[in-house]
Amino acid sequence: MRSKVVTIDRHIIDQEREHPGASGRFSALLYDIALAAKIISREVNQAGLVDILGKTGAINVQGEEVRRLDDFAQEVIVKAMDHAGHLCCMVSEECDEIIAIPDKFDKGHYVLLFDPLDGSSNIDVNVSIGTIFSVHHKVTPGETGTLADCLQPGRKQLAAGYVIYGSSTMLVYTTGMDSGVHGFTLDPSIGEFLLSHPNIRIPNPPARIYSVNEAYYARWSRPQQRLLDHLRDMERGGEQGYRSRYIGSLVSDFHRTLLQGGLFMYPPDTRSPDGKLRILYEAAPLALVCEAAGGRASDGGRDVLDVVPRGLHDRTPLFLGSSSLVDLAESYVGSES
Ligand code: AHG
Ligand code: MN
Ligand code: MN
Repeated sequence: MRSKVVTIDRHIIDQEREHPGASGRFSALLYDIALAAKIISREVNQAGLVDILGKTGAINVQGEEVRRLDDFAQEVIVKAMDHAGHLCCMVSEECDEIIAIPDKFDKGHYVLLFDPLDGSSNIDVNVSIGTIFSVHHKVTPGETGTLADCLQPGRKQLAAGYVIYGSSTMLVYTTGMDSGVHGFTLDPSIGEFLLSHPNIRIPNPPARIYSVNEAYYARWSRPQQRLLDHLRDMERGGEQGYRSRYIGSLVSDFHRTLLQGGLFMYPPDTRSPDGKLRILYEAAPLALVCEAAGGRASDGGRDVLDVVPRGLHDRTPLFLGSSSLVDLAESYVGSES
């Protein structure tokens, strides 16, 4: 038994006390995200039992098939977040446009951007999936959220984090560089997220793990191919070799990288010249968590946190993980970005 039991609610209040300027509204926003995560976790863990698997037949703005759990997670988050008066608008991977707050509800000073279910292709085969979230402060006058409130660089995020629905459900979040990264594990028997991973720091030296979909090797640039060749051939050069680990759920691949160290890559290729991962609700939130844990996040040439998206669903190449390995990646591909 841990020395003391700290719920996420207690932790958020303690963090708020350390930042006297923080308003209770921001803490209430994080509680509501944790509530939505509990509801989604319950459904994900019963997915094989209830009629929630499979496809809806719809195609989302990304051109991808929408699965029923995508829809479910989307609806849970919108319904948990739209009426409490914290938000001026929301952005979701599953919605082409900004999600407005209904007139009947009060509006607030924050923007919530989220990927309701990340790793959808893994849902039906019982592989870990997740939810990714990002919180920005409203930056334009007036009550209603606008594009300008959404299209902000990741470095301005007030908070960012993810939920991973795996062998256990964990919520990991940060409120920025000086507040650390903290992990909470859901105890379903009491319905509470309990602090299980205080002050997560990405290990350095890192585990020698690289994580990339090597099936796309032929579509990569020559510098990217040379980087992979280098990582694969370390042993031939007499150095300690690398292991390859690729789950295909960004949240799962990142969570392993955060806890063990290593390098996650989703490079550009001939079919996806900007890579596949979206800036606002995948790359930027995980970049903030990664940097707050002592790692790095690059688009190959610069920090992802400095990228200013032009559109809600803009994509970016992503090199994420232990700083020494992201530096190595940039030394190969930096000249081309
Ligand atoms: P989503 O399910 O939200 O669309 O995200 C899927 C993403 C990400 O989770 C993962 O890293 C990547 O797709 C895997 O893409 P490939 O199958 O091309 O490797
Ligand atoms: Mn995703
Ligand atoms: Mn998704």
